[in-house]
Amino acid sequence: MQWIPEYKGDVPRVERFNFLSRFTHWGHTVTFLLCLFTGLALFLDSADWLAAIFGGFHGAGLVHRIAAVAMTIVVAIFVVGNFKVLIAWIKDILRFGLNDIIFIMKFPFEFLGFKVKIPPQTKFNGGEKGNSMLTPTAVIFLILSGYIMWFPAIFPAGLVRLAYPIHDISMVLATFMVCMHGYLGSFHPGSGESFWGMWKGTVREDWAEHHHKTWYDETYGDKASGE
Ligand code: HEM
Ligand code: HEM
Repeated sequence: MQWIPEYKGDVPRVERFNFLSRFTHWGHTVTFLLCLFTGLALFLDSADWLAAIFGGFHGAGLVHRIAAVAMTIVVAIFVVGNFKVLIAWIKDILRFGLNDIIFIMKFPFEFLGFKVKIPPQTKFNGGEKGNSMLTPTAVIFLILSGYIMWFPAIFPAGLVRLAYPIHDISMVLATFMVCMHGYLGSFHPGSGESFWGMWKGTVREDWAEHHHKTWYDETYGDKASGE
């Protein structure tokens, strides 16, 4: 059984994500998961076994802080080093329109295996636009509330108290999104090729045209400006 479609290097391919996007994406994935498992070890009193993996509660707290700093650095590298890509991403999210709404309404049926006709999508489809808004927002709240919890002496007591529920709610929201997103970006039939876009940087040209027609036409097809 094959989980992800085979990578085909002998067919026409187009670039989807540059090196820095891919490096930072996998960097924040690893650090996010480390923060999640160590955070859960601290959060759930009953999860002694989870804490034991990190050398007890003290070890989990230490790994949590190291991974948190690494995640902050990775996010900063993306923002500073990939500023143009970040702006293009934000512009794409702001193009949210009727085709994205139709995508979101029809996708549950496609997910369940029904054949549906999806209208042309830009670089990120309606679901990915939603993910692009929700997950990074939750991660920003995790980072801000995390540092407030870490250095309570320099923040007002009310803010420190507020940081705990904000950290926990953001953790639940981000984890829910990442579970769906991780599956859709890898094993889900049909969208698996996008994994290669994030791993190797390119996707099959026919896949790009089929899944992201508007983006394909504007970047590589008839409407490309040739920049
Ligand atoms: C768990 C394993 C993960 C896998 C397999 C995965 C896979 C992918 C793939 C394939 C893409 C590109 C989709 C496209 O072609 O447009 C992508 C994009 C993205 N990833 Fe991940 N990812 C994972 C974890 C994460 C984590 C932990 C975060 C953030 C905390 C994250 C945030 C994003 C965002 C914001 C995008 C752009 C929007 C989107 O395509 O939904 N990913 N990911
Ligand atoms: C820059 C990012 C982050 C920083 C600075 C940070 C910092 C902290 C700190 C200082 C604590 C308290 C630890 C203790 O009591 O020893 C904590 C707890 C926790 N963190 Fe984070 N964290 C970050 C990211 C994350 C992420 C990405 C997740 C999960 C996805 C997460 C989940 C948790 C959980 C579940 C707890 C336990 C909260 C509680 O006891 O109510 N953290 N974090």
